[in-house]
Amino acid sequence: MSGEPKILVVDDEIVVIKSAQRVLGSEGYDVEGALGGREAILKLEQGNYDLVFTDLKMPEVDGITLIRWIKKSKPSTGILIITGYPSQDTIKEALDLGIIDYVPKPFTPSVLLDVTKRAVAWVEGKKPEEKKVSEEFPPAMAAELDRVIEQYKSRPGSLIPVLQRAQEIVGYLPPVVQKRISKGLNMPDAEVHSVVSFYSFFTMKPRGDHNIRVCIGTACYVKGIDKVVHKIKENLKIDIGETTESRKFSLEGVRCLGACGLAPVMMIDQETYGALTASKALSVIREYDPTVGEAASAQEEELAEKEG
Ligand code: FES
Repeated sequence: MSGEPKILVVDDEIVVIKSAQRVLGSEGYDVEGALGGREAILKLEQGNYDLVFTDLKMPEVDGITLIRWIKKSKPSTGILIITGYPSQDTIKEALDLGIIDYVPKPFTPSVLLDVTKRAVAWVEGKKPEEKKVSEEFPPAMAAELDRVIEQYKSRPGSLIPVLQRAQEIVGYLPPVVQKRISKGLNMPDAEVHSVVSFYSFFTMKPRGDHNIRVCIGTACYVKGIDKVVHKIKENLKIDIGETTESRKFSLEGVRCLGACGLAPVMMIDQETYGALTASKALSVIREYDPTVGEAASAQEEELAEKEG
């Protein structure tokens, strides 16, 4: 990929295109829009795009038809879907066609950016030779992973259990691990990658001792999870998708933790914490590490003393 990643957003709602342009444009991505499948094909015929985000339900040429066309005519383009109704059937059909990931509609800026960054890395990652990645993967782990693949290989529906075991063995699922699995199970790389991206319990980055998952789904967003996330980021000094320097905490944004009635919600490892406020979230994190935010709270106390 030379220069900024070029992205085409295809949706019959102009507001979706505009907000994607605003969010991704401010991060330096070159974003164009098309109001339907037909317009998208015309644009794709005239130039190349690194990524195409497409809605599925559109009049005339719909998303699935567009995806099929891209796969045939522009196979090196990464495809993502934007959908308000991620039913298993539509996602399954799109996954079968080899999409990279999906973005829920409406999306929050952080979800869109996170998914885009991963998709760009995936498109770029298709090019480097395997040599570099294989060095990151200790032989003992590789042997254990091969043993698991061998054990599941002939069973139907083996991908998810193999990925779960691989994550236990390696700690996360970098491209080199995904490749080994797709080769071992004899399935396309893109299919393995799509499943890893789709389920929030899989991660492509190393995690800290404690994994904090904040829900940025609609119910939690409406109840103010953004303030909670801001507080956590500020105190842990990391962004979503990162791990603290101490390797104590990782922070992940997920689309729904299945506890919308308790919104806003976060999970730390297997524990769920609901009805959060920014300060409640911080005190919960301090139960895991009392030193978190020490400097900031000392400053606050000093300030309060002066004011008092
Ligand atoms: S939207 Fe947050 S738990 Fe469902």
